[in-house]
Amino acid sequence: MENFQFYSPTCFVFGKDTENKAGEYVKKFGGTKVLIHYGGGSVVRSGLLDRVKSSLDKECIPHIELGGVQPNPRSGLVYEGIDLCKKENVDFILAVGGGSTIDSSKAIAAGVVYDGDFWDFYSGKRIEEALSVGTILTIAAAGSEGSPDSVITKEEGMFKRGASGDAIRPKFSILNPALTQTLPPFQTAAGITDIMAHLYERYLTNTKDVEVTDRMIEALLLTMIHEGPRVIENPNNYEARANIMWAGTMAHTNMCGVGRSQDWNSHNIEHELSALYDCAHGAGLAVTMPAVFTYVMSHNVMRFAQVASRVWGCQMDFEHPEVTAKAGIEAFRRFLKSIGMPGNFSELGAKEEDIPKLVEVLCRGDGRDGSISGFVTLNEEDCTKIYKMMV
Ligand code: NZQ
Ligand code: ZN
Repeated sequence: MENFQFYSPTCFVFGKDTENKAGEYVKKFGGTKVLIHYGGGSVVRSGLLDRVKSSLDKECIPHIELGGVQPNPRSGLVYEGIDLCKKENVDFILAVGGGSTIDSSKAIAAGVVYDGDFWDFYSGKRIEEALSVGTILTIAAAGSEGSPDSVITKEEGMFKRGASGDAIRPKFSILNPALTQTLPPFQTAAGITDIMAHLYERYLTNTKDVEVTDRMIEALLLTMIHEGPRVIENPNNYEARANIMWAGTMAHTNMCGVGRSQDWNSHNIEHELSALYDCAHGAGLAVTMPAVFTYVMSHNVMRFAQVASRVWGCQMDFEHPEVTAKAGIEAFRRFLKSIGMPGNFSELGAKEEDIPKLVEVLCRGDGRDGSISGFVTLNEEDCTKIYKMMV
């Protein structure tokens, strides 16, 4: 195991009706004027926004609103939010929604206290300072409620890039599984896929002897395999929603990723798809992961055979571990299909003729040197082959 520091200061408030404590927690973390940031309207329709406003009113905390965050959040609204916060002297951003709303909130929080263009953070500059952010999560998926990351898409060129820094870790995150019961089945399934991707990205390591984190990841994957179909069958299953929600947070606070190298090539390859076609991130990952795994499998067959036997229940073939490894990837592919995820480019709305463009942005965009690195370093030829496997 490699040396590491684990820092995860977010206060997680979990359970039924916890959104009514939003005001209390904003106060506890020093907010005196709040921007409530939200998406395309699900929180208005469900009545959640009104409950959050009442909770702030109860604590006499003034608040303003900015809605309209799109999935794959855009830089345009971030600029708008930064101007609004400066004009209104906001000192706390409360994100009410999913990963897109949380990421947009984090970008605004960093941009308000920065003299230059906030996009600098999405071109490699680390975020050292930001306004405080709190979240009320409405979809178990991205894990942004406990992560130091934010992913934003720049409209010109549709560049989707990430920024990082402990300053944007949420001060608190309110997790009420019941709030996810209004999700359309497709979004629930896309969230499940993203959570599993965050686990696989950490499982695919080149570090030896990391049994504790291997076993934690396997436990969370097994939980998703058990609870995913239950929640797709019955969207009102609170207990299944609760297990998925907490698994989603644990999958991405990095407690399962410490002390080991990680992959993230599936995410990099997917980000170009959701940037270009504006598809759901989880749906893009459902198409990307089986192709990437098949392509890189020979780099460490035993890693794939291990997850196949421990998680997917495949019989270990010690003479031909590649058979077990492949069976595990196929079991994952079948699982994703069974919960309603797309399996190829056309089901995703992607086009084969765009592959050269995807590869160019992936491997050359933002100063990259023609390759992406992770479990295996992949050059332009590798990425072209991987995209072609998804067609
Ligand atoms: O906008 P509204 O109307 O709220 O509708 C949303 C949106 O259409 C809807 N939704 C959310 N909660 C709902 C609901 N509809 C009904 N009832 C509810 N309770 O779901 C749709 C998707 O929302 P979004 O926030 O986009 O989903 P998700 O949480 O999957 O976030 C995806 C974004 O997070 C990024 C992705 O790249 C993508 O841009 N990621 C962020 C990460 C991070 N910050 O650490 C890591 C991830 O790997 C990921 O890259
Ligand atoms: Zn993800």
